[in-house]
Order: sequence, then structure tokens, then C-alpha cells
Amino acid sequence: MGNITEYILERLIKKGAEADIYEARWYGLRAIAKIRKAKEFRNPELDYEIRRKRTLREAKLIALAKSFGIPTPLIYFVDPNTAEIVMQFIEGIRLRELSLKEKEKALPYYQFVGKNIALLHKNRIIHGDLTTSNFIISQGKPFLIDFGLAFLSDEEEDKAVDLHLIKQILLSQHYDIYEEAFNLLLEGYRSILGEIGSLIRKIKEIERRGRYARVV
Ligand SMILES: Nc1ncnc2c1ncn2[C@@H]1O[C@H](COP(=O)(O)OP(=O)(O)O)[C@@H](O)[C@H]1O
Ligand SMILES: [Mg+2]
Repeated sequence: MGNITEYILERLIKKGAEADIYEARWYGLRAIAKIRKAKEFRNPELDYEIRRKRTLREAKLIALAKSFGIPTPLIYFVDPNTAEIVMQFIEGIRLRELSLKEKEKALPYYQFVGKNIALLHKNRIIHGDLTTSNFIISQGKPFLIDFGLAFLSDEEEDKAVDLHLIKQILLSQHYDIYEEAFNLLLEGYRSILGEIGSLIRKIKEIERRGRYARVV
């Protein structure tokens, strides 16, 4: 294989604990490059294996979610050896900023968000980091990004933990719209998965455990 220039990094957007996020160009298309960094404290071979596996898993689950109709970025390029994913740049505003600045505009999207989460769960995908920063509103749809902590599971507990996190984010960061937003989210979730009484009980149980853990 010749030495081809696949993409150009243009600007560092975020230095994360796990990965750096760059704005990039992929054959002229606006893109995002997510590059997992070496961790100095880990054994180099083990570190390489971990980054390789997580890179592949993230790219696989972003694409898998898309195949079930959940809006996610297109994957342009993956290199497990250098722990890089290049994906479509989703133009738009994050649900976090929209919810803080334009509540009335943000609210209707929560039903769609709930539908997307249910579609994930219906297909055994647990996102692992459902925050309002990981949804970008684009073309009238909430695109889900950041599958860095995602995994496959059938366990109701894992689904409940996913929903518990977004509930906590709404409570702590979007309190003024919390009730309406979370109700709409559950409405969307139910429209895909039907009755979810036992899941709601699991979320309550996780909340009780959380409170107890803080008291002790
Ligand atoms: N595909 C994308 N399109 C547009 N912006 C993105 C995309 N992926 C990431 N970003 C931006 O970069 C930020 C961090 O990316 P993310 O994958 O969530 O990494 P982290 O694990 O550091 O949260 C996001 O909150 C978003 O603002
Ligand atoms: Mg994120």
C-alpha cells in the first residue's frame, strides 16, 4: 500500500481523559477525529491492546446503532493500531446548550431522545454515558455520539443505569425542565418498548442505593 494521506487534523476541540477530539477533514468533508492516547502508567503492550479494543468497539457500536435507525455519525475511517476513529462532523447544537439557552425549543426533542434510547436498548446496546452533551441536534434529529463506554447487554439493570444517568443529568443540570423533559423521554421510550414498570422500579432501586451509599 502506498503512503496515502487519509485525513488532516485541523483543530483540537477537546482533550479528554481517554481521547483527544480534533476537528478534521476527510477527503474534503468536515470530520471529527477521536484519538485515544497512550496512558503512561499502563504497561505499553496492555495499553496498546486496550486502546485497540476500545477503538474497534466504539466504531462498531456507532455503526451498529445506525443500522437500527438511531441517528449517529457515519464512520469514515478506523485504525485500531493508532487508536483513531474518523467520523462525520454533526453540524448543530448539543442538547445541553439548547436545553440551557432555548428550553422551549429543546423540550420536544426529549421524546425523540427517549425513542432513540429505547431503540438502542431493544437491540441490546447500552450507551454508558447518556448525557445532554452526547446528543447533537441536527437536521431536526438528536444524533447520539460518544460510544466510548458503550457495550452489549441484555440485563435490565444495565438499561436502568443508562436511564438513571440521563435522569440525574436532567435533575442536576436542567432542573427547570427536568420533570417535563424526563416525562417526554419516558413517553418516547414507551412508544418503542411498551410497558416499562419493572424498569422504572429498577431505576428507583438504583436511586435508593445511591442515596444510601452517600449516607454511609
Ligand atoms: N461527530 C461529531 N460531530 C460534532 N461534534 C462532535 C462529534 N463527536 C464529538 N463532538 C464534539 O466533541 C465533544 C467530545 O466528544 P466525545 O466523543 O463526547 O468525547 P468525550 O468522551 O471526551 O466526551 C462532544 O461533546 C462534541 O461537542
Ligand atoms: Mg462526550
